[in-house]
Amino acid sequence: METKRVLKKGVIKYGVITIIAILFIIFVIALIMYYTSDKYKLTKLGYSKEEAIEIVTIGKSNRVLNIRYSEVMLDILKGKYYIDNNLEKYLDYYDANKDKSIDDIIAIINVHAEEEFYNIELETDTSKGIEMIVNKVYGLDKEYVPEDIVNVSNWYAYGEQKVSEEVYEQYKLMFNAAKKENLTLIINDSYRSYEEQEKTHKRYGDDYAARPGHSEHNTGLAVDIIGPTSTGDTFEDSSEYQWLQEHAHEYGFILRYPKDKEYLTGYEYESWHYRYLGVELATKVHDSGITYDEYYAYYLDNK
Ligand code: DAL
Ligand code: ZN
Repeated sequence: METKRVLKKGVIKYGVITIIAILFIIFVIALIMYYTSDKYKLTKLGYSKEEAIEIVTIGKSNRVLNIRYSEVMLDILKGKYYIDNNLEKYLDYYDANKDKSIDDIIAIINVHAEEEFYNIELETDTSKGIEMIVNKVYGLDKEYVPEDIVNVSNWYAYGEQKVSEEVYEQYKLMFNAAKKENLTLIINDSYRSYEEQEKTHKRYGDDYAARPGHSEHNTGLAVDIIGPTSTGDTFEDSSEYQWLQEHAHEYGFILRYPKDKEYLTGYEYESWHYRYLGVELATKVHDSGITYDEYYAYYLDNK
């Protein structure tokens, strides 16, 4: 009886010790886990607990831990057109431009518009065909000549005009659709060779004309459109323009230099300049509400 009691006491004693030891080990492990967690490291970097949890939740803790603290880190990470490769650039640009919105900062960096235009020079990827980008950053080689340029009939244009074959076919469809509504779309300018663009640029300067190699007119994919009673300057007020706003994308064309986007496109609003992208892409760009420069950076060049 006595032996049994001693044995029972011993079991209880060791049981309690084991439980305490296990609890202690669990406590130590939890402590180690906490102090080595991304959440803790992020709070050490300067983020609040809530911010740290959010950064971990969106899977960006490694990226952020390798950079630095920024008060706009989460706003940038959650930006609709955020591109991971550009994160450092967004942060640096924000530090120097705190008055700008986060969306603008992301857009400006994405389209390489953080420096004066033409300071950053990249080569247009012509293998992208009708999706290629040509702007004040991306330029075409001096030797580039589109292969499928065709003459435009005077039924559709003023003077001698040339465009890419596919553009011509789609333009005719668009012209006929507008005609059904008693509207006349007239091509006033179209394909320009490198040399012709050199002359255009000399005449109008950087604000209105692209430098040679940097004009969409060099691709055969751009047309300047006016109406029978309007010029480029007054086109915006015409019914033809109104019709294009609603229907151009249905035929594969987009308004390429919209109002108030000069800081991204490099050009003042051009109500007459339309770029052919094919129906599918033009519709997506139109529906996105962003410029083609932004769209290209995010959807077509974002590896
Ligand atoms: N005016 C347009 C931007 C060009 O020169 O290509
Ligand atoms: Zn134009």
